[in-house]
Amino acid sequence: MEVDFTTLFDEWSANYDATVFGEDEQYREVFERYEEILDFVAERAFGKIVEFGVGTGNLSVRLQQSGQLLVGIEPSQEMRAIAERKMPSLTIQDGHFLNYELSEQVDSIVSTYAFHHLTDEEKERAIYKFARNLRPGGKVIFADTMFVADEAFAKTIERAEQRGYDRLSADLKSEFYPTIPVLQVLFEKGGFTTRFTQMNHYVWVVEATKGE
Ligand SMILES: C[S@@+](CC[C@H](N)C(=O)[O-])C[C@H]1O[C@@H](n2cnc3c(N)ncnc32)[C@H](O)[C@@H]1O
Repeated sequence: MEVDFTTLFDEWSANYDATVFGEDEQYREVFERYEEILDFVAERAFGKIVEFGVGTGNLSVRLQQSGQLLVGIEPSQEMRAIAERKMPSLTIQDGHFLNYELSEQVDSIVSTYAFHHLTDEEKERAIYKFARNLRPGGKVIFADTMFVADEAFAKTIERAEQRGYDRLSADLKSEFYPTIPVLQVLFEKGGFTTRFTQMNHYVWVVEATKGE
């Protein structure tokens, strides 16, 4: 990984669930409709499923209920420990979007709030690898912060700064949030067709289907 966020998430793990359920004012809008976003992703996943960036396991719990979640992949040891406590029977691999092992091809690759940890060049490599790991007709379903264009991204940073949200604006400036047109091109180069759905001011779901 060009930038390794593992220490940040090890440190955030104990308070992470409080943040996603609205206790951190700076991140409240980012996690607005959090449970609906997880449900939206879980409802669209089918067949054998792999999840990246499991975190504290809030999406995995939903996926495990249908019995189709094959493996979760998560680089932070502290996040893995919390998710494993919630789901003792789930296999969670120490890995990340560019480093993981699958025993077979799958139907769905899912993730929430994690793909932006890769640079656009890394996203492209990850997408080519997803294409190899998916069966024909398989899907990548990712919810994450993204923006319709650079101008909308810049305005959101400005808005965070005006509100005094220093941690949020530093995060927006230092992580690798994509624009939708860039992400669309990356998926199309990998042989996918895409559909984007807006969930809140920050988060969109990309549903990318691999050609038959
Ligand atoms: C904001 S949390 C999201 C957790 C969970 N998916 C959710 O929706 O609540 C981001 C997670 O992605 C993980 N992560 C960071 N970089 C990653 C990478 N390159 N590949 C996979 N996961 C990564 C972090 O350790 C963290 O657990």
